[in-house]
Amino acid sequence: MKIFLDTANIDEIKKAMDYGVIDGVTTNPSLIAREGKEFIPLVKEILSLVPGPVSVEVTATNFEDMIAEAEKYAKIADNVVIKVPINLEGLRVVKTLSEKNIKTNVTLIFSASQAVLAAKAGATYVSPFVGRIDDISGDGMELVDDIKRIFDNYAYDTEIIVASVRHPLHFVQSMLLSADIATIPFSTLGKLLKHPLTDIGMEKFLSDWEKVKK
Ligand code: G3P
Repeated sequence: MKIFLDTANIDEIKKAMDYGVIDGVTTNPSLIAREGKEFIPLVKEILSLVPGPVSVEVTATNFEDMIAEAEKYAKIADNVVIKVPINLEGLRVVKTLSEKNIKTNVTLIFSASQAVLAAKAGATYVSPFVGRIDDISGDGMELVDDIKRIFDNYAYDTEIIVASVRHPLHFVQSMLLSADIATIPFSTLGKLLKHPLTDIGMEKFLSDWEKVKK
């Protein structure tokens, strides 16, 4: 499974790239706003740091303006993926962009039927938001399971990005369900590595090493 970093923070991207585990980046308007920086220069900087796919979301709500935004972003670099919200206008945008060979990530997916329509329209990726489903007492990973089985049943090429990942179990379950990608916030990436027995073991090795004659 590929790992994308769900952030627009340059320091986080640089650090995660250095760890050698990041295959791409996803952003959204909220993550961009958090940085308090000018949008296009920030996107250009992210694209220059990341060789893999970088999702950049359109914020217009009508077809013509979404296409204009998408075409502008697509010109910046080859690895841009246009993030498009799931709705009727969004589907038209996905179809048009796929005919132009521009990659799309259909976002705010909360049902299998939404994912199927996005795939049918030609989406490169769909992003089910598992954490937000769990937040309202649903089961986000069950949605990933449904989408995966449907895509396999009908041989859709669209890849599943498990998004709104909140904890290590989401990450492991994503792989058990054979999701293509999980996009993970930097803070959650750290949690994937953490284990109390590793910390205790490390402490013991270091204190025992102090007793060795050198
Ligand atoms: O990038 C989309 C998604 O991962 C957002 O996650 O934590 O805001 O629900 P969250």
